[in-house]
Amino acid sequence: MTEKIYIFDTTLRDGEQSPGASMNLEEKIQIAEILEEMRVDIIEAGFPIASNGDFEAVLEISKNIKKSTIAGLARAKIADIDRAWEAVQHASYPKIHTFIATSPVHMKYKLKKTPSEVLDAIKLTVTHARKLCPNVEWSCEDAGRSEIDFLFKCIELAIDCGAETINIPDTVGYTLPTEFGSIFKAVKNNVPNIDKAILSSHTHNDLGLAVANSMAAIQEGARQVECTINGLGERAGNAALEEIVMALKVKKDLMPFHTDIKTESITKASRLVSAITGFTVQPNKAIVGANAFAHEAGIHQDGMLKHAGTYEIMTPESVGLTESSLVLGKHSGKHAFNKKLQELGYDLGDNALMEIFGRFKDLADKKKEIYDEDLIALVGDRTLSYNEHIKLVSLSVNAGLLEKHEAKMTLEVDGSKKSATSFGNGPVDATFNAIKDITNYNFRLKLYQVHAITAGTDAQGEVTVRLEDDRLTSQAKGSNPDIIVASAKAYINALNKLIYKKSKSFSERPSELKVKGV
Ligand code: KIV
Ligand code: ZN
Repeated sequence: MTEKIYIFDTTLRDGEQSPGASMNLEEKIQIAEILEEMRVDIIEAGFPIASNGDFEAVLEISKNIKKSTIAGLARAKIADIDRAWEAVQHASYPKIHTFIATSPVHMKYKLKKTPSEVLDAIKLTVTHARKLCPNVEWSCEDAGRSEIDFLFKCIELAIDCGAETINIPDTVGYTLPTEFGSIFKAVKNNVPNIDKAILSSHTHNDLGLAVANSMAAIQEGARQVECTINGLGERAGNAALEEIVMALKVKKDLMPFHTDIKTESITKASRLVSAITGFTVQPNKAIVGANAFAHEAGIHQDGMLKHAGTYEIMTPESVGLTESSLVLGKHSGKHAFNKKLQELGYDLGDNALMEIFGRFKDLADKKKEIYDEDLIALVGDRTLSYNEHIKLVSLSVNAGLLEKHEAKMTLEVDGSKKSATSFGNGPVDATFNAIKDITNYNFRLKLYQVHAITAGTDAQGEVTVRLEDDRLTSQAKGSNPDIIVASAKAYINALNKLIYKKSKSFSERPSELKVKGV
């Protein structure tokens, strides 16, 4: 039997900190459910003191999730720890994750504390957390740039005060795998009480080394890794869960460890996180990218036909990928439709099923051949379609070599229909102007991206839109065979998300939390 590596997923906390990726309560619960289904050991559900929205989400996830441990993040402050406990106390397995920075640059400029004041804060806060919660994790933020002797002292103290997990983050993604691994080795060899704690790795991808650093940490003693689905996370992101889990599975011969993750749920989790956050997965992304198992070159295809092992180090089925195939057409019934969705990993309730079935019929009227990817986009569209203050009712545009492009649009805004005819520099610009004219919202458009979901000129276009104002950002997708309609849907989805956030009046991070990696 090999040693177990605990998987600590922080998609809902560190992942959610990517600008535009924030999610609402229902979305967070959906993600937590799939993480539980995947058998993630620990779900970091949020940062309860950061906002009422964060608190509510951690509380609800704690009440709903039965099998995974639920962690809430807290700075080294009594108020943060109390709030984290308030949120996780109902969980079957609650955990408080508290942290303080230990690098000279963070202590001096961010915390304005001396090393001895940091030690005092560790003593006070870890002791307090441990009185509330039987399971406490302590992190030395920016450990990758901390002085090693000071790190030893902090870790020893945190363990003495009751921390059962010591998490070592490379907060700014600065270290090389050999360097990061040697921190774990040094900690194992120099912290006298280290055998009382589990060592954990938390890596960021600023140099593209997050997964490599996690693997190095495991080789030097880490038995927990912190990671996110699709590598979601601030800046260049966190270590990708799917890459670490599959690397451990594929390289069992060289790394004698295992995780409890049900790898067949990886694709479904990846798609859900992408649909909810609006963050498209790059096609060549390891494990979950659209091309991760596609063999295009003739020589590769020839090898694959002779023996899959020639070019495949793991099977698509092992990550839950089903063959992309022609599935249904406009004559398909609800039963076949539901069966296909179940094969794709979606188990929908009756209402959701009826709603998506209706959308499927509309799509089948426009598009002869419906593929798995089209169905996934339909489910993704529905995921984004609650909290709909604004709904698209009708849209017609004129495109072509015109001087002025015109969009005639009707929206339903909080139940009443409003129309506008607007102009712009191209049909998309005219469409977005119509939305702005009707709603009077004028957020900045920070990203506009289009891609075809499948091949063929009748393929659905999938559009991603990111909007922001001075405080908030939101990103969302929309799909339709007409890319102007897909653009309008993506814009409206992003707008609905921003309105939701404003109504909850939460800012993405209180300004003092707006530091790298936190
Ligand atoms: O990157 C980091 O240091 C963190 C800590 C809060 C663990 O996210
Ligand atoms: Zn982090």
